[in-house]
Amino acid sequence: MQHHLPSASYDSPYRDLAGARVVVTGGRGTLGGAIARACAGLGAKVWSLDVTPSGPTASGTVRERMANVRDRASLETVRDEVEADGATTVLINAAGIQRRTDFAGCDEATWQELMDINLNGVYRSCQVFGAGMRKTGGSIVNFSSVSGVVVSGKGTPYGIAKAAVSFMTKVIAVEWAPQVRVNAIAPTAIPSGMTADLFVSPAYVAAKLADIPLKRVGTVEDMVHAALFLASSASGLITGQTVIMDGGLSLR
Ligand SMILES: NC(=O)c1ccc[n+]([C@@H]2O[C@H](COP(=O)([O-])OP(=O)(O)OC[C@H]3O[C@@H](n4cnc5c(N)ncnc54)[C@H](O)[C@@H]3O)[C@@H](O)[C@H]2O)c1
Repeated sequence: MQHHLPSASYDSPYRDLAGARVVVTGGRGTLGGAIARACAGLGAKVWSLDVTPSGPTASGTVRERMANVRDRASLETVRDEVEADGATTVLINAAGIQRRTDFAGCDEATWQELMDINLNGVYRSCQVFGAGMRKTGGSIVNFSSVSGVVVSGKGTPYGIAKAAVSFMTKVIAVEWAPQVRVNAIAPTAIPSGMTADLFVSPAYVAAKLADIPLKRVGTVEDMVHAALFLASSASGLITGQTVIMDGGLSLR
Protein backbone atom coordinates (compact mmCIF):
# COMPACT_ATOMS: atom_id res chain seq x y z
CA MET A 1 0.00 0.00 0.00
CA GLN A 2 1.32 3.43 -0.92
CA HIS A 3 0.80 6.16 1.64
CA HIS A 4 0.59 9.92 1.45
CA LEU A 5 -0.07 10.31 -2.28
CA PRO A 6 -1.35 13.79 -3.11
CA SER A 7 -4.29 14.27 -5.43
CA ALA A 8 -4.29 16.38 -8.59
CA SER A 9 -7.08 18.55 -7.17
CA TYR A 10 -4.86 21.59 -6.88
CA ASP A 11 -7.72 23.89 -6.00
CA SER A 12 -8.35 21.94 -2.75
CA PRO A 13 -4.93 20.74 -1.61
CA TYR A 14 -6.03 19.88 1.93
CA ARG A 15 -9.10 17.86 0.88
CA ASP A 16 -7.95 14.70 2.69
CA LEU A 17 -8.36 16.53 6.03
CA ALA A 18 -12.14 16.32 5.60
CA GLY A 19 -13.22 13.51 7.93
CA ALA A 20 -9.72 13.19 9.44
CA ARG A 21 -9.38 12.80 13.22
CA VAL A 22 -7.11 15.66 14.27
CA VAL A 23 -5.61 16.08 17.75
CA VAL A 24 -4.08 19.45 18.65
CA THR A 25 -2.08 19.87 21.86
CA GLY A 26 -1.98 23.45 23.08
CA GLY A 27 -5.30 23.70 21.28
CA ARG A 28 -6.48 26.76 23.22
CA GLY A 29 -3.27 28.67 22.41
CA THR A 30 -3.00 31.24 19.65
CA LEU A 31 -1.47 28.93 17.04
CA GLY A 32 -2.99 25.62 18.15
CA GLY A 33 -6.44 27.23 18.37
CA ALA A 34 -6.20 28.69 14.86
CA ILE A 35 -5.02 25.35 13.44
CA ALA A 36 -7.81 23.47 15.26
CA ARG A 37 -10.47 25.84 13.87
CA ALA A 38 -9.00 25.65 10.36
CA CYS A 39 -9.04 21.84 10.41
CA ALA A 40 -12.63 21.83 11.69
CA GLY A 41 -13.53 24.26 8.91
CA LEU A 42 -12.17 21.75 6.40
CA GLY A 43 -14.46 19.06 7.82
CA ALA A 44 -12.05 17.32 10.22
CA LYS A 45 -13.09 15.96 13.62
CA VAL A 46 -10.87 17.95 15.96
CA TRP A 47 -9.89 17.36 19.58
CA SER A 48 -8.23 20.34 21.28
CA LEU A 49 -6.11 19.44 24.32
CA ASP A 50 -4.89 22.07 26.76
CA VAL A 51 -4.41 22.81 30.45
CA THR A 52 -6.50 25.96 30.18
CA PRO A 53 -10.28 25.70 30.04
CA SER A 54 -12.20 26.76 26.95
CA GLY A 55 -12.84 30.46 26.57
CA PRO A 56 -16.22 31.99 25.78
CA THR A 57 -15.31 32.09 22.09
CA ALA A 58 -14.64 28.33 21.91
CA SER A 59 -15.76 26.80 18.65
CA GLY A 60 -18.67 24.38 18.94
CA THR A 61 -17.14 22.19 16.25
CA VAL A 62 -13.88 21.58 18.14
CA ARG A 63 -13.97 19.05 20.98
CA GLU A 64 -12.28 20.91 23.85
CA ARG A 65 -10.65 18.57 26.39
CA MET A 66 -8.49 19.17 29.46
CA ALA A 67 -5.18 17.31 29.11
CA ASN A 68 -1.64 18.01 30.23
CA VAL A 69 1.29 16.94 28.05
CA ARG A 70 3.19 16.35 31.33
CA ASP A 71 0.62 13.71 32.29
CA ARG A 72 0.56 10.64 30.03
CA ALA A 73 -2.66 9.32 31.57
CA SER A 74 -4.54 12.51 30.61
CA LEU A 75 -3.38 12.07 27.00
CA GLU A 76 -4.43 8.41 27.05
CA THR A 77 -7.93 9.36 28.21
CA VAL A 78 -8.36 11.58 25.13
CA ARG A 79 -6.72 8.97 22.92
CA ASP A 80 -9.31 6.41 24.07
CA GLU A 81 -12.12 8.81 23.20
CA VAL A 82 -10.65 9.54 19.76
CA GLU A 83 -10.00 5.88 19.01
CA ALA A 84 -13.57 4.93 19.89
CA ASP A 85 -14.23 6.78 16.62
CA GLY A 86 -11.10 5.57 14.78
CA ALA A 87 -7.34 6.06 14.80
CA THR A 88 -5.88 9.54 15.00
CA THR A 89 -4.94 10.72 11.51
CA VAL A 90 -3.25 14.01 12.35
CA LEU A 91 -1.40 15.12 15.48
CA ILE A 92 -0.39 18.77 15.87
CA ASN A 93 1.95 19.36 18.81
CA ALA A 94 1.44 23.06 19.55
CA ALA A 95 1.62 23.01 23.38
CA GLY A 96 4.56 24.94 24.72
CA ILE A 97 5.85 27.42 27.27
CA GLN A 98 8.56 30.04 27.26
CA ARG A 99 10.78 30.94 30.22
CA ARG A 100 13.27 33.59 29.13
CA THR A 101 16.61 32.91 30.72
CA ASP A 102 20.16 32.49 29.61
CA PHE A 103 21.91 29.15 30.14
CA ALA A 104 23.91 30.13 33.23
CA GLY A 105 20.88 31.59 34.98
CA CYS A 106 18.52 28.71 34.28
CA ASP A 107 17.73 27.03 37.61
CA GLU A 108 16.80 23.34 37.93
CA ALA A 109 13.06 23.93 38.27
CA THR A 110 12.90 26.17 35.19
CA TRP A 111 15.02 23.75 33.15
CA GLN A 112 12.86 20.76 34.17
CA GLU A 113 9.61 22.58 33.41
CA LEU A 114 10.81 23.77 29.98
CA MET A 115 12.05 20.32 29.03
CA ASP A 116 9.07 18.44 30.45
CA ILE A 117 6.55 20.46 28.43
CA ASN A 118 8.44 21.50 25.28
CA LEU A 119 10.41 18.29 24.71
CA ASN A 120 9.02 15.46 26.84
CA GLY A 121 5.47 16.61 26.07
CA VAL A 122 6.07 15.99 22.36
CA TYR A 123 7.64 12.61 23.17
CA ARG A 124 4.57 11.60 25.21
CA SER A 125 1.91 12.75 22.76
CA CYS A 126 3.73 11.20 19.78
CA GLN A 127 3.89 7.87 21.61
CA VAL A 128 0.30 7.98 22.87
CA PHE A 129 -1.38 9.08 19.62
CA GLY A 130 1.24 7.66 17.25
CA ALA A 131 0.67 4.00 18.16
CA GLY A 132 -2.67 3.98 16.31
CA MET A 133 -1.30 6.12 13.49
CA ARG A 134 1.40 3.53 12.86
CA LYS A 135 -1.28 0.97 12.00
CA THR A 136 -3.49 3.11 9.79
CA GLY A 137 -1.26 5.97 8.62
CA GLY A 138 -1.09 9.60 9.58
CA SER A 139 0.85 12.80 9.83
CA ILE A 140 2.45 14.60 12.79
CA VAL A 141 3.37 18.30 12.87
CA ASN A 142 5.57 19.48 15.73
CA PHE A 143 6.29 23.07 16.74
CA SER A 144 10.01 23.71 16.92
CA SER A 145 11.36 27.28 16.78
CA VAL A 146 14.02 29.33 15.02
CA SER A 147 15.37 29.67 18.57
CA GLY A 148 16.42 26.04 18.11
CA VAL A 149 18.25 26.90 14.89
CA VAL A 150 20.16 30.07 15.80
CA VAL A 151 21.20 31.25 19.27
CA SER A 152 19.21 34.35 20.12
CA GLY A 153 19.09 36.39 23.31
CA LYS A 154 17.53 34.93 26.42
CA GLY A 155 15.82 32.00 24.78
CA THR A 156 18.60 29.50 25.23
CA PRO A 157 17.10 26.62 27.27
CA TYR A 158 13.85 26.97 25.29
CA GLY A 159 15.93 26.79 22.09
CA ILE A 160 17.72 23.67 23.30
CA ALA A 161 14.38 21.91 23.80
CA LYS A 162 13.17 23.06 20.37
CA ALA A 163 16.38 21.85 18.66
CA ALA A 164 15.77 18.47 20.28
CA VAL A 165 12.18 18.48 18.97
CA SER A 166 13.57 18.93 15.45
CA PHE A 167 15.93 16.00 15.93
CA MET A 168 13.16 13.88 17.48
CA THR A 169 11.13 14.70 14.35
CA LYS A 170 13.84 13.12 12.20
CA VAL A 171 14.12 10.03 14.40
CA ILE A 172 10.39 9.32 14.48
CA ALA A 173 10.09 10.04 10.75
CA VAL A 174 12.55 7.23 10.04
CA GLU A 175 11.17 4.79 12.64
CA TRP A 176 7.52 5.22 11.67
CA ALA A 177 7.83 5.41 7.88
CA PRO A 178 6.09 4.60 5.64
CA GLN A 179 2.85 4.84 7.62
CA VAL A 180 3.48 8.09 9.47
CA ARG A 181 5.07 11.30 8.23
CA VAL A 182 6.55 13.60 10.87
CA ASN A 183 7.59 17.20 10.26
CA ALA A 184 8.17 20.36 12.26
CA ILE A 185 7.71 24.09 11.86
CA ALA A 186 10.38 26.47 13.22
CA PRO A 187 8.93 29.98 13.26
CA THR A 188 10.41 33.31 14.15
CA ALA A 189 8.42 35.50 16.53
CA ILE A 190 4.65 35.63 16.02
CA PRO A 191 2.32 37.79 18.11
CA SER A 192 0.64 35.22 20.37
CA GLY A 193 -0.12 34.38 23.99
CA MET A 194 3.51 33.36 24.41
CA THR A 195 5.01 36.57 23.03
CA ALA A 196 2.48 39.18 24.19
CA ASP A 197 4.99 40.56 26.71
CA LEU A 198 7.55 41.10 23.91
CA PHE A 199 5.30 42.63 21.28
CA VAL A 200 4.21 45.46 23.60
CA SER A 201 7.74 46.82 23.22
CA PRO A 202 8.31 48.92 20.06
CA ALA A 203 12.06 48.48 20.63
CA TYR A 204 11.67 44.68 20.52
CA VAL A 205 9.64 44.81 17.31
CA ALA A 206 12.10 47.23 15.66
CA ALA A 207 15.08 45.06 16.59
CA LYS A 208 13.32 41.93 15.34
CA LEU A 209 12.41 43.53 12.02
CA ALA A 210 15.99 44.72 11.60
CA ASP A 211 17.12 41.08 11.84
CA ILE A 212 14.55 39.71 9.37
CA PRO A 213 15.32 40.18 5.64
CA LEU A 214 11.60 39.99 4.68
CA LYS A 215 10.91 42.81 7.18
CA ARG A 216 7.95 41.22 8.87
CA VAL A 217 7.32 38.83 11.73
CA GLY A 218 5.19 35.67 11.46
CA THR A 219 1.41 35.61 11.45
CA VAL A 220 -1.16 33.08 12.56
CA GLU A 221 -2.11 32.61 8.91
CA ASP A 222 1.51 31.73 8.02
CA MET A 223 1.43 28.98 10.63
CA VAL A 224 -2.01 27.62 9.73
CA HIS A 225 -1.06 27.30 6.04
CA ALA A 226 2.16 25.49 6.93
CA ALA A 227 0.41 23.16 9.37
CA LEU A 228 -2.33 22.29 6.86
CA PHE A 229 0.25 21.65 4.14
CA LEU A 230 2.39 19.41 6.36
CA ALA A 231 -0.64 17.61 7.84
CA SER A 232 -2.19 16.83 4.46
CA SER A 233 -1.00 14.66 1.61
CA ALA A 234 -0.15 17.86 -0.30
CA SER A 235 3.25 17.42 1.38
CA GLY A 236 3.18 13.65 0.90
CA LEU A 237 6.87 13.24 0.00
CA ILE A 238 8.12 15.35 2.92
CA THR A 239 9.09 13.75 6.21
CA GLY A 240 11.59 14.43 8.97
CA GLN A 241 11.95 18.07 7.95
CA THR A 242 11.86 21.24 9.97
CA VAL A 243 10.40 24.05 7.87
CA ILE A 244 12.09 27.24 8.99
CA MET A 245 9.62 30.12 8.76
CA ASP A 246 11.64 33.14 9.75
CA GLY A 247 11.60 35.59 6.84
CA GLY A 248 15.25 34.77 6.30
CA LEU A 249 16.42 35.59 9.84
CA SER A 250 18.56 32.46 10.14
CA LEU A 251 20.28 32.99 6.78
CA ARG A 252 22.86 35.40 8.15
N1 LIG B 1 4.59 32.61 19.13
C1 LIG B 1 5.83 32.50 18.75
O1 LIG B 1 6.54 33.49 18.52
C2 LIG B 1 6.44 31.13 18.56
C3 LIG B 1 7.67 31.05 17.88
C4 LIG B 1 8.25 29.80 17.72
C5 LIG B 1 7.61 28.66 18.20
N2 LIG B 1 6.41 28.78 18.85
C6 LIG B 1 5.80 27.55 19.34
O2 LIG B 1 4.48 27.44 18.82
C7 LIG B 1 3.68 26.67 19.73
C8 LIG B 1 2.38 27.42 19.99
O3 LIG B 1 2.69 28.61 20.73
P1 LIG B 1 1.74 29.90 20.74
O4 LIG B 1 2.52 31.01 20.15
O5 LIG B 1 0.39 29.58 20.18
O6 LIG B 1 1.68 30.17 22.30
P2 LIG B 1 0.42 30.15 23.29
O7 LIG B 1 1.00 30.47 24.63
O8 LIG B 1 -0.65 31.04 22.76
O9 LIG B 1 -0.09 28.65 23.23
C9 LIG B 1 0.54 27.59 23.92
C10 LIG B 1 -0.55 26.74 24.51
O10 LIG B 1 0.06 25.60 25.13
C11 LIG B 1 -0.69 25.32 26.30
N3 LIG B 1 0.10 24.52 27.24
C12 LIG B 1 1.13 24.93 28.03
N4 LIG B 1 1.54 23.93 28.82
C13 LIG B 1 0.78 22.86 28.51
C14 LIG B 1 0.71 21.54 28.99
N5 LIG B 1 1.53 21.12 29.98
N6 LIG B 1 -0.19 20.69 28.45
C15 LIG B 1 -1.03 21.12 27.48
N7 LIG B 1 -1.05 22.36 27.00
C16 LIG B 1 -0.15 23.22 27.50
C17 LIG B 1 -1.02 26.69 26.86
O11 LIG B 1 -2.05 26.64 27.82
C18 LIG B 1 -1.36 27.46 25.61
O12 LIG B 1 -2.76 27.40 25.33
C19 LIG B 1 4.54 26.44 20.97
O13 LIG B 1 5.14 25.16 20.92
C20 LIG B 1 5.62 27.49 20.84
O14 LIG B 1 6.80 27.12 21.53
C21 LIG B 1 5.82 29.97 19.02
